[in-house]
Amino acid sequence: MDLRRRVIDAFQQRFAGDPTWLIRSPGRVNLIGEHTDYNDGFVLPMAIDRAIWVALRPRRDDVVQVLALDFGEEAGFHLAHLEKGGPAWSEYLKGVAWALSEAGYRLCGWEGVIAGDLPIGAGLSSSAALEMAAAKAFSTAAGWPWDVKEMALLGQKAENQWVGVQCGIMDQMICAGAAAGHAMLLDCRTLEFTHVPLPPDCIVIVLDTGTRRGLVNSAYNERRAQCEAAARALGVPALRDAALEELERWAGRLDEVVYRRARHVVGENARTLEAAEAMRRGDARELGRLMNASYVSLRDDFEVSGPALDAMVECAWEHPACLGARMTGAGFAGCAIALVEVSGAEGFVSRVMDCYRRRTGLEPQAYVCTASAGANVFR
Ligand code: GLA
Repeated sequence: MDLRRRVIDAFQQRFAGDPTWLIRSPGRVNLIGEHTDYNDGFVLPMAIDRAIWVALRPRRDDVVQVLALDFGEEAGFHLAHLEKGGPAWSEYLKGVAWALSEAGYRLCGWEGVIAGDLPIGAGLSSSAALEMAAAKAFSTAAGWPWDVKEMALLGQKAENQWVGVQCGIMDQMICAGAAAGHAMLLDCRTLEFTHVPLPPDCIVIVLDTGTRRGLVNSAYNERRAQCEAAARALGVPALRDAALEELERWAGRLDEVVYRRARHVVGENARTLEAAEAMRRGDARELGRLMNASYVSLRDDFEVSGPALDAMVECAWEHPACLGARMTGAGFAGCAIALVEVSGAEGFVSRVMDCYRRRTGLEPQAYVCTASAGANVFR
């Protein structure tokens, strides 16, 4: 049964009567521009056709009461007394309510059912999808307009300060503002963005390694600190402001690890802008080449790959229809993506899956994905 039907049916059973609205909030893959967002740099993510769905109805009081089908769990809270504690998924809803009310948005209660087909912790931004689903629910229930930048920033604030994960702004921005059929070139300093069409005759395939790693307490914060140290040493506000030639002059004077982290970020920003140009020209081959270069840099300089991601990317590279492949998201585990020529795509998934199983003994999954719209509400 499709998710839309599932949340409607479950709503009718649990809350009696029909939901007033349906919300869809997608996951994302990042085509290129990894670990650049918190360096004020550029990213090029696209929303995918896997999403979180919410069926909801407004309430007259200040209670938010939600049933999460994927966890078989229900949670409720009062908007006037937001306190931490409760199932982990409900903390995202509460955190968003907190960030919105801190920013002065009027909130009203609602009841709803949530379900999704986004694997959790796989690097496809299930957290941002849940945050933007919550923001959309509050904006719809209280009737104020949707502002992409504001909602993304408040979702990020909820994740940073309520949930306690130091993510950048990429995931919330793409989820809040994606356009179907397009990736988003986002300047993470100004939050200005343009929609860039996917090149013709190729598809994006998500390759899930079946391995998972949480972001909290991970090496993510360490990478951020190393990037900040590099920017301080170079005397720039953020690594976005450093040029490669300038960084090269620092080789030998900067801590060797910090130098390599900075080299990744500076190179990745340039690659991301080139990738957007290649897409505008419809040059899938060049986009694939840049994705491969991004991967090598993430693996060797930024050191955020891992054995499972390495195996998956190498298996994808071996296929003749593969234009490019790389890890996507924070790294270490989770998903890779491949850009594949449509004409040779048949058999790609089964061949890559076989190769990966043989090399790792792990059970992978693959989804051919299309670029979807951002968080949306339906009546
Ligand atoms: C996670 C974070 C993003 C971004 C990526 C790495 O997905 O949530 O903000 O930093 O890692 O590019």
